[in-house]
Amino acid sequence: MKPVRKAVFPVAGLGTRFLPATKASPKEMLPVVDKPLIQYAVEEAVAAGVTDLIFITGRNKRAIEDHFDAAPELENELLAKNKHELLNAVRNIIPAHVNCIFVRQPAALGLGHAVLCAAPVVGDEPFAVLLADDLIDADVAVTRQLIQAAHAQGGSVVGVQEVPRNETDKYGIVASEPVGERTEQVSSIVEKPKPENAPSNLAVVGRYVLEPQIFDCLRRTQQGVGGEIQLTDGIAALLSERKVFAHRYEGTRYDCGNKTGLFAATVAIGRKYHGLTV
Ligand code: G1P
Repeated sequence: MKPVRKAVFPVAGLGTRFLPATKASPKEMLPVVDKPLIQYAVEEAVAAGVTDLIFITGRNKRAIEDHFDAAPELENELLAKNKHELLNAVRNIIPAHVNCIFVRQPAALGLGHAVLCAAPVVGDEPFAVLLADDLIDADVAVTRQLIQAAHAQGGSVVGVQEVPRNETDKYGIVASEPVGERTEQVSSIVEKPKPENAPSNLAVVGRYVLEPQIFDCLRRTQQGVGGEIQLTDGIAALLSERKVFAHRYEGTRYDCGNKTGLFAATVAIGRKYHGLTV
């Protein structure tokens, strides 16, 4: 398997759960302590060795582009005031060797469609997908863990964790057989099944390493749950031609797609990395 150099960040979603905070500002820019959610995901990808960051954006997402761009007026002001620590914080969000690429998704047709929008930029290489909603605090970047599993097994890998049985309808759920200490080979995958129909309680979190064959599968994928082109359905199609694995990553995940998860992440990250107390 070729090295994984590219990561796709689908960021075109509306974020209705956080209205009115997300009326004019992208949900990916919601902060956990002092960094927006998208920056945690980007830092994870860079820590995993990724050099090309591909953002799939939509209307009202300009703030994400600005966040990863230079900010000359702000930088000059911080420099003039000798605020070097803050200057470093705004200047060095991503290392110089890392590229940002922005692709517009013209309509929010689903996660699978968003990933397909990256096809011309990704080309014929394996790539990572990170959903910024899932903030995962880990000693070894979860994307790195998945890349290692993908290379060890020679196939695509989805990050998984066990969830309570009554929550299977919030996730992609896999049926799988163990092939290693933390890795299982996937035999089927289904998007948001009701608990009574779920093949297991092993849920896909927002981390994927995918082989480029996924693009042809997504081109053939019809609308699924919620009328959307689902990445899970594309992966289900991929299973008939390539091996797909589920990796039980090491780390703590916060579901920042809802208020409770964002609040929990803020308290935990604030305590652990910033010495904050409440
Ligand atoms: C998406 C995927 C789902 C996955 C989840 C992880 O769902 O469609 O398969 O389990 O992310 O967070 P969403 O949360 O966007 O509804």
